Amino acid sequence: MNENATSNMNARIRVATKRDRDDIRDVHLQAFPAAEAEQIADLSVRLLTEASDPQTLNLIAVCHGKVAGHVAFSPVFSNIDKQWTGYILAPLAVRPEYHKAGIGSQLVENGMERLSEQGVNMLFVYGDPKFYQRFGFSAEAAAGFLPPYALQYPFGWQAIVLHAAPTEGHTVQLSCVASLRDPGLW
Ligand SMILES: CC(C)(COP(=O)(O)OP(=O)(O)OC[C@H]1O[C@@H](n2cnc3c(N)ncnc32)[C@H](O)[C@@H]1OP(=O)(O)O)[C@@H](O)C(=O)NCCC(=O)NCCS
Repeated sequence: MNENATSNMNARIRVATKRDRDDIRDVHLQAFPAAEAEQIADLSVRLLTEASDPQTLNLIAVCHGKVAGHVAFSPVFSNIDKQWTGYILAPLAVRPEYHKAGIGSQLVENGMERLSEQGVNMLFVYGDPKFYQRFGFSAEAAAGFLPPYALQYPFGWQAIVLHAAPTEGHTVQLSCVASLRDPGLW
């Protein structure tokens, strides 16, 4: 698949359901290195049934009838402003045989569009800046928002503003949904 992949494969992006559970788990098992694959696969399954308010969004990319990728967006909460709405993108994975065909980007962009339409103020991510900067994520936007747990790789903490809200002068402590309440994930 990699050899034939052009820069953009048209995957169908849709909201995942409980019936996609095993496919989603398998995407993460295949995509992540063995040392972390089980942990992230388990996380992806927990997020699929996360009972959060606002809702956790799970998207899958379907190519030729096969689940090729998955991303989850779960809400994060500010200790200061209850009106402010934030989400975090995690985890994201695409089956290795579908890499570099634009599917990861489609999942991220589709989720950003949906969250923006909902009026979400900010989207966070904890990942490789080289990948996420192409979507507009930056460390600058995340400065002033403390992640729920101490980070092993602080340079990976980034955000994008979808709808600006006044936060000047405040340091915001974020909390997260139950599935992400594990210091080992951060
Ligand atoms: C990261 C991942 C989801 C990208 O999926 P994808 O469908 O290949 O992504 P796209 O085709 O939309 O984009 C591919 C581009 O991202 C780049 N890229 C992928 N992973 C990257 C990384 N960790 N750091 C920097 N760039 C990365 C590729 O080199 C490629 O660049 P190009 O467009 O200049 O050629 C996929 O590589 C994956 O599942 N990786 C393992 C799981 C993982 O690491 N997830 C967390 C992401 S931080």
